[in-house]
Amino acid sequence: MPHRDLHLDFNEAFAPQQPNGVTEAELEAAIPSFLQVHRALQAMHEIGQAQFLNLPYLEEVLSHVEERAGELRGAFDTMVVLGIGGSGLGAKAVEEAIFGPVFAGAVPLPVKRLFVLDTLDPDYLGRLFSGLDLERTVFNVVSKSGNTVETMAQFMYLYDLLKKRLGAERFRRHLLMTTDPQKGALRQIAREEELESFEILPGVGGRFSVLSPVGLLPAAFLGVSIRELAEGAVRMIKRCKGEDLWTNPAAMLAMVSCLLAQQRGRANLVVFNYAERLNRCVEWFRQLWAESLGKRFTLEGQEVRAGITPIQASGPRDQHSQMQLYVEGPQDKQVMLWSQEKFDGDLKIPKIYPEIDSLSYLGGKSFGEVLHAELISTEQSLKEAGVPSYRLMLYGADAYGLGQLFYLLEIATVYVGGLLGVNPYDQPGVELGKKYIYGKLGRPGSEEFGATLARKLKDKRYIV
Ligand code: PA5
Repeated sequence: MPHRDLHLDFNEAFAPQQPNGVTEAELEAAIPSFLQVHRALQAMHEIGQAQFLNLPYLEEVLSHVEERAGELRGAFDTMVVLGIGGSGLGAKAVEEAIFGPVFAGAVPLPVKRLFVLDTLDPDYLGRLFSGLDLERTVFNVVSKSGNTVETMAQFMYLYDLLKKRLGAERFRRHLLMTTDPQKGALRQIAREEELESFEILPGVGGRFSVLSPVGLLPAAFLGVSIRELAEGAVRMIKRCKGEDLWTNPAAMLAMVSCLLAQQRGRANLVVFNYAERLNRCVEWFRQLWAESLGKRFTLEGQEVRAGITPIQASGPRDQHSQMQLYVEGPQDKQVMLWSQEKFDGDLKIPKIYPEIDSLSYLGGKSFGEVLHAELISTEQSLKEAGVPSYRLMLYGADAYGLGQLFYLLEIATVYVGGLLGVNPYDQPGVELGKKYIYGKLGRPGSEEFGATLARKLKDKRYIV
């Protein structure tokens, strides 16, 4: 597929076309705020911080991952990633975008299989582990912190299983680790037991790590060109370097979304995706946007309760489900429509039933054509309902396009973080939940949280 740029179309997000949209004057007035966050990001990039922006340029990492993935492809059919949140969603997104949904019993594409374990459901795990051919499977434990409960529980189970089934020496070649170069239990184990490992740069958090070995190794194992992923990312980084708001795609996305949230009370962002293969990319984005921007306090410690809630929808499916709510329900939403300009192939609807008016108009059209008509109709219905929308148009769901998509959304997220005055790289709201999990499960040092939970369980009254 030729390398084409991703585009954003904001025509239905601006007033006067869309009376509830933003105005050019509002956007112009917000330029000083944009310049402040843009310059801060560029400055951090130049001094080697904002390390996610460096990832696609790390030649040594790309070569090493390519080389090892080539060897792993020779030895194994399946990779199982043990990783959750930012440590798993990127790999899933790449797999589904490149290979599309894989149907059981249909042509076995991709040639290699990938499972991402971001669950603790014992039925799921039990069935997967018992169904795998361990001889042909490599396990990749991915955790930046090296301490995440879900991942480490899976790792401990698997470590024991592999040792028992494959023997104390042979199990090693089936186990890889992707973690912080210095910190965490996983790094300690890798070092002490001399297990093969890949490094996640200390300054790169989970949801910004898709182009580190976290996402690159599973992608390369599947046969995806990680060079093209990186090239797409570099292209987007370059397009977002400029200070001219009107030509910087991430800036436009961030500013329009922020203004709609802050000035028009539209703090819910529906991502209405019309490319089936991008559904996992929407999931990846949902985590990026929600975890980065949903913050109680600003960087200065002022309480703001910031955030723009991402909502996942897919077309045409949700035209027959969620659409009613978006059109007639609360006027608190903005919609980002995702579309893919070029599909790998298209199917024609045969010209049968010419005598039935309610069917004859479909004959001779392609599915791509019908799908596009549906997207345009959704856009128009939203327009008439007074719901501002904008379009993200990916040329094709290939590696180059995905690299652009990931980086557009990562840079836009950092911009919105800056505009809202919050830290997009942390997630303090997630930490409290972790403390209670530790308390409940008896981790040393978390007794106080365990005791609170025990008291709470005793007090339960309103159970019907
Ligand atoms: O984006 C993030 O930082 C989180 O979603 C993490 O990726 C997630 O919590 C898993 O953390 P870890 O990679 O430390 O296991």
